[in-house]
Amino acid sequence: MSGFDLHWLDLREPLDKRARDQSLLQKAGEFVQASKRQTIIDLGSGTGSTFRVLGPHAPDAHWRLIDLDEKLLKEAERRHFQDQNITYQRADLNDLASLSLDKADLVSASALFDLCSRPFVETLADRIGGSHSGLYAALNYTGEIVFDTPHPDDDLMIRLFNHHQKSDKGFGPALGPDASNVLASIFTNMDYRVDLAQSDWLMDETAIELHRLFVDGLASAVAETGMLAQGKVNEWRGFRVAQAETSKCRVGHCDVLALPQSIR
Ligand SMILES: C[S@@+](CC[C@H](N)C(=O)[O-])C[C@H]1O[C@@H](n2cnc3c(N)ncnc32)[C@H](O)[C@@H]1O
Repeated sequence: MSGFDLHWLDLREPLDKRARDQSLLQKAGEFVQASKRQTIIDLGSGTGSTFRVLGPHAPDAHWRLIDLDEKLLKEAERRHFQDQNITYQRADLNDLASLSLDKADLVSASALFDLCSRPFVETLADRIGGSHSGLYAALNYTGEIVFDTPHPDDDLMIRLFNHHQKSDKGFGPALGPDASNVLASIFTNMDYRVDLAQSDWLMDETAIELHRLFVDGLASAVAETGMLAQGKVNEWRGFRVAQAETSKCRVGHCDVLALPQSIR
């Protein structure tokens, strides 16, 4: 599975950066710095946005960026060709057994786990627990979307969008808005220390294009469900796209940090 547009990832990166919880980034960095090999494996790396924010918190770390999308991985390589501490691996995360995750002190991922299924996350957690590694999982969508200028169909559209978020995104039925709670409960049951922190997007006048693309994508997802008349979807889409310039929207996200009780 792919189709993660470079332009979309570039538009969201500044918002993601602003939204990420700083104390979890710092704790993740400290954990890596205290570990023996200082190795981080980033899953679904895209162009390397997790490296760009977490890297400064663990300046001596060795990174492996893994993604299925060759174009995004090449772009990551182009942006960081001077950095000797990064290797790049094109791989399908569904083939977890082939990823040598046991080499990681920390597994990281941003904006990934809401796309993944529960069995995938359980298998991954098993692998992470087996090597006493940590997990930094940022920017998991929570299902909450709040517009500051209401439309009568907002609730219905958001409900249907969240329904669509649970469809297969390449890993089996996706966790969608349940991702952070599922991660937290799996790692808590493994006796990990789990921290959750809100990392909402705030789309304001600095993010008009992203706001437009987001509501357009939301409407397309609802249309795909076939659960609402196309005319109604289009009316909402038209209203929301027109409003993007002057209104604000908050999209709920949550960062998760799960660390083993003992250092590797
Ligand atoms: C929403 S993007 C997030 C990218 C990056 N982590 C960021 O925050 O900018 C999800 C990423 O997961 C990758 N991805 C999706 N399914 C994958 C799979 N089965 N195997 C490897 N990578 C995958 C996509 O190519 C994309 O780069």
